[in-house]
Amino acid sequence: MPSKWGGRGRAIPLLRIATDPRTWVFASAAAAAGGRALGRWLTRFELRGRTVLITGGTRGLGLELARQAGSAGARVAICGRDADTLARARESLSQMGAAVLATTCDVTDRNQVAELIRFVQAGFGHIDVLINNAGMVEVGPVEAMTAVDFERDMATNFWGPLNAILAVLPHMRSRGEGRIVNIASIGGKLSVPHLLPYSSSKFALVGLSEGLRAELRASGILVTTVCPGLMRTGSPRHATFKGRHDAEYTWFNLADNFPLLSMDVERAARRILRAVRHGNSHVVLSLPAKV
Ligand SMILES: NC(=O)c1ccc[n+]([C@@H]2O[C@H](COP(=O)([O-])OP(=O)(O)OC[C@H]3O[C@@H](n4cnc5c(N)ncnc54)[C@H](OP(=O)(O)O)[C@@H]3O)[C@@H](O)[C@H]2O)c1
Repeated sequence: MPSKWGGRGRAIPLLRIATDPRTWVFASAAAAAGGRALGRWLTRFELRGRTVLITGGTRGLGLELARQAGSAGARVAICGRDADTLARARESLSQMGAAVLATTCDVTDRNQVAELIRFVQAGFGHIDVLINNAGMVEVGPVEAMTAVDFERDMATNFWGPLNAILAVLPHMRSRGEGRIVNIASIGGKLSVPHLLPYSSSKFALVGLSEGLRAELRASGILVTTVCPGLMRTGSPRHATFKGRHDAEYTWFNLADNFPLLSMDVERAARRILRAVRHGNSHVVLSLPAKV
């Protein structure tokens, strides 16, 4: 009796399935998905037993990254400029049972960064993951900004990460593996009015980070560029406001605290550490940033 494929017996339907272009499209898609999953599994990088250095790990996103990396079994090293904030952060990380090293360091100073890297290596042996998180923001119209404001943002948000990268790279190269995470901003992809020194410095960081990813990939060092939109880290308390200070503070603080516009910091840190484990090239955080 003729089958529903129009032929007799089983050989003809199988032949039809095998020669149907839709079968090949489906098989290719499945093979590609399987390849991606295998690639993710092969490049997975567990944090347990690793050393993770987080610049600016004393509060906000940096401290949350340190907490989550510590909970995952990593040894964490943090730095910041203010000794009291640093001491409080070290205490809270130690209390949760994390192995922690903490030292003051201003990332804009190349010598201090070199000293930081030596300090962490002396304490923990080597550095597996560098997270360039230390950052600053100045808010205000361009007419209220001077060249010094642009230089300050560039020093912290661009030269700071570059100082740390150049100091840590020889060691990662000699070990043939490592992870470098650069916390940039969506302001480094789309320039934001009233945040021009900040946006300019984050654009520079994104350029550095993306080029570095391409250049280092073959050496086993994977670079991740993170572009968050607003996150609820309490950063308006530490931002500098220029021009009409009250008005500038109000819009920045409102946006920073509005749940639809800004992202919970614990969630942001989880997403970033997942990207570290998988060696992803980019992370864009918060819905408005994705749009
Ligand atoms: N919060 C947001 O909505 C948002 C959005 C996009 C991107 N980001 C980026 O995410 C990162 C973290 O933001 P956050 O909101 O958590 O910032 P935050 O609360 O202001 O914390 C910044 C951290 O960096 C440290 N730091 C600042 N300048 C430093 C320097 N020159 N040397 C060493 N440490 C320095 C600070 O400690 P000391 O002041 O004691 O030095 C602090 O530990 C930044 O790179 C920021 O640009 C934040």
